[in-house]
Parts: sequence; C-alpha cells; structure tokens
Amino acid sequence: MQDFELFLLKNLPTSSSIHPHYEAALQEMLRAGGKRFRPALLLGVVQALNPLMVDGAMHAAYAIELLHTYSLIHDDLPSMDNSPLRRGKPTLHVVYDEVTAVLVGDALNTYAFEVLSNAPFSDATRVELIRELATNGGLNGMVLGQAIDCYFENKPLAVEDIKVLHTNKTAKLIAASLKMGAIICGDEELGKKLYDFGIKLGLLFQIQDDILDVTQSDEEAGKLTNNDGDKNSFVTTLGLETAMQEADSLADALTKEMQSFDASLYGELAPILTKYINRHR
Ligand code: IPE
Ligand code: IPE
Ligand code: MG
Ligand code: MG
Ligand code: MG
Repeated sequence: MQDFELFLLKNLPTSSSIHPHYEAALQEMLRAGGKRFRPALLLGVVQALNPLMVDGAMHAAYAIELLHTYSLIHDDLPSMDNSPLRRGKPTLHVVYDEVTAVLVGDALNTYAFEVLSNAPFSDATRVELIRELATNGGLNGMVLGQAIDCYFENKPLAVEDIKVLHTNKTAKLIAASLKMGAIICGDEELGKKLYDFGIKLGLLFQIQDDILDVTQSDEEAGKLTNNDGDKNSFVTTLGLETAMQEADSLADALTKEMQSFDASLYGELAPILTKYINRHR
C-alpha cells in the first residue's frame, strides 16, 4: 500500500486562489491517513487477476478513497454525527468552519469522478467504473444509508431495516471496491461474486465499527467514540454480546467462503481480511 500512498500524495486535489485555506482543507483528511481498506481491496483483486493493471488501478482505488473521505467529512458535521475528531485529527468544521467542511466534502466527491474519468482504461471500462462508484456511493447507496441513519436517530428500527441501513451506508461501497477491481480486469462473473461477498464483508465491517464505538477510547479509534447512543447501530439494537457473536459468525463464514477463491485471489485478499476480520476482538 506504499505505492497507493505515493499515488495519493502525487494526486492530491490542488487549487490556488485568493482563498486562505481552501487548498489545505481539501488535502487535510486525505493526508491524515486511515486504514485505506477500500483501496486495498480493489488493488488486491487487480494484483491477483492482472498485476500489469495495478498502476492504472491506482486511479480507481484513489477515487473510492476520495468518495469515502468526503463521506467521513460530512458524517462528522454538527448536523450529522457532530464529531470533533477524525483520523486522529480535529475535524474540518472544528479547524475551519462548517462551510469549509461541507464544500471540501462536495469537492472530494466530484473530484473522485474526475479522477475516474481520467483513468488509463478504455472508455467502456471508465463508464462502468463511474457507474459502479456512483450507484454504490450515491443516492441509492451510501447517501441513502446516511439519510436513514440520521433520520431514525432515537427511533428504533426493526432488525431487517437495520440491515438495509448498514448495507447502504457502508457495505455497498466496500462491495463496489472489490467489484471495481474485477471490472478493471474485465471479469464480470467474478465481479458479481465479489460484490455479494463484499456486502457481507461490509456488514461485518460496520458491526465491528459499532462495537469499537463502545469498546475503544477516542485515542485508540482516532475518532469520537461512545457517540452512537442515539443511533440504530448493531450494538444499540442487538446489545454488545449479540453484536460480538454476529461479528464472529460473519467473520467465520467469510473466512470459509474466501477459501473457495482461486489461489492467487485468496493469496491477495486473505492478508487484507485477516488484518481486519477480527478487529472487534
Ligand atoms: C469509517 O470507515 C466509516 C465506516 C463506514 C465504518 P473506516 O473505518 O474505513 O475509516 P478510515 O478510512 O480508516 O478513517
Ligand atoms: C458512517 O458510519 C459511515 C459513512 C458512510 C461515513 P459511522 O458514523 O458509524 O462512521 P464513524 O464511526 O463516524 O467513522
Ligand atoms: Mg454516521
Ligand atoms: Mg460517525
Ligand atoms: Mg461508527
């Protein structure tokens, strides 16, 4: 992932103008780091299927990270989760102001699609990647999940609806990361299979995130924890013990399913998943 970090630094959004801090604000949360989980998934798939495509795939991995980073900046806004800390740094609305945080989010969202439009693939592949990121990150994907998440604060949802919420909010973008790797390599069949796997992986990722909200300190998480009391999180809905059991059984199922992948795909994805699959423990 070192190459990804270099690519990101080389391709940070830039803008010179009379604005005193717009460019710094654009870059701040990207430079702050994060797990880079979604880029790692995409690049892992491409490395397994066609290593020669990895350099080009950096554009797509970066586009996902841009969209994800925008979603975090908006997620932390006072009108959403109201968090002063992200990736171990004060959030943009705290350092600057709310206007800056909203607009930087908007800029990173659109920049993601600019980056994809310039990626070194055929027009057909570029369009497919743009469609995949927009469909999963947009109005019937992450944005819908965030809308449900915020609307239903302090309004408990049924367990089936919780799954819909978190599938949209988190799982679809994680599933898209795997599928976009397969799209780049022209393997539609595998893309579908990885998407279904990714939805389950994304749900696991969010259950873990909800568990860590109650088990980690702000310092450990690099973000405000104990902040989900009003939310329909897996922990507020199921309780900590049941959420843990749910995470364990999903982690087991995914580990087994991964063993059916061909050797090179397993070889790339297993280390990434092993790093994160038991992070609630
Ligand atoms: C946090 O995502 C938001 C969720 C969807 C759970 P990450 O845990 O991937 O955040 P970063 O990218 O590492 O900061
Ligand atoms: C947010 O979920 C998921 C996004 C789409 C950004 P959370 O609100 O649980 O994410 P954190 O815990 O603040 O990172
Ligand atoms: Mg949130
Ligand atoms: Mg949040
Ligand atoms: Mg959370």
